Amino acid sequence: MADSNKIFTAAAGSNIAFIKYWGRRDDALNLPANSSISMTLDSAVSTRTSVAFSRKLDRDRLYINGEEEQLDGSANEKTVFMKRILDHVRSVAKAKEHVLIVSENSFPSSAGMASSASGAAALVTALDAALGMGMDERGKSILTRQISGSACRSVQGGFVKWNRGVEKDGADSYAVQVADERHWPELMDIIAVVDASKKRVSSSEGHSSTPKTSPLYAARPAFAERGVGVVEKALVARDFQTLAEAIMRDSNNMHATMLDTWKPIMYLNDKSREIMYAVEDLNSRKRGYVAAYTFDAGPNAHLITTREHRKEVLGAIDAVSGISRVIESGVGAGPELLGEAEALIDAAGLGPKRPPRKA
Ligand code: DP6
Repeated sequence: MADSNKIFTAAAGSNIAFIKYWGRRDDALNLPANSSISMTLDSAVSTRTSVAFSRKLDRDRLYINGEEEQLDGSANEKTVFMKRILDHVRSVAKAKEHVLIVSENSFPSSAGMASSASGAAALVTALDAALGMGMDERGKSILTRQISGSACRSVQGGFVKWNRGVEKDGADSYAVQVADERHWPELMDIIAVVDASKKRVSSSEGHSSTPKTSPLYAARPAFAERGVGVVEKALVARDFQTLAEAIMRDSNNMHATMLDTWKPIMYLNDKSREIMYAVEDLNSRKRGYVAAYTFDAGPNAHLITTREHRKEVLGAIDAVSGISRVIESGVGAGPELLGEAEALIDAAGLGPKRPPRKA
């Protein structure tokens, strides 16, 4: 019975891939062409999501950072997948009520950072609690993957591997933890925001078009699969030298296939490249890797380093003009259920009147 008049709140961190997911073997199920491996980020780059099922609601309602969004993909293509997941969990839990979803990111929407990974992981965690589904980590990861591929790695904390899987229905394509957040707590991600505008080509379009049109892409899945093995070993051994080189090479390899796509996908800009050179110069001065750059589907730089070298990395990018914001994140512990509270949804369904309390 979903209409418990309760609001359930969960928080989840985003993640940064060390070996990236780019290209799908199945578009409908978000099945990747290769495995990937990432670090879950902490509350600096996270989303807090509350859900409440109620008979008083006449339709599903979604608020992201205070703005109502329609669940029809008109403003945000991910909402179509969210709606599909909502209908799926309702049918599994035999619930009929509509749901109110209120989602807030810890970082400003003007930072130009993707929130789909943390948002999807927080949503699935909150839905699981609200409907009393008792899903295991695998089930949560598979469900989250269907909203956004890379999000399936955010259902675990620490260091996480998403195995590509071979099954047609994706039953073996989910994320597993390689090591928890206490394994290498010195590791951190310094994010240099250089452009906060919306990207020209969505990652979803790229996952589909790059494998179809880039001749270079043929070499990517095997390269990435090898990279996952190298990174996994380097993480277990806390070997920063091996890790750093593998991270930078994989980012460059992925962006090369993007540029080779027809029509070309260009996420990096001059500022991104300036930061790459700044990191290269820093590593040369230090005669070893103290930082690694990596870029997702956008120009903002993620600089992976250890706390010991934080100041040097910040110093190295200080000279780069045009960095609008720097966000620092450590290794995150994964989704957390923050508690439940009474949901006072008014007849118009305009939202909870009381903030949820911490458990
Ligand atoms: C470049 O996970 O955003 O960040 O499955 O369409 O939601 P969808 O794609 P998404 O792809 C982004 C991939 C990446 C690399 C990575 O995080 O592995």
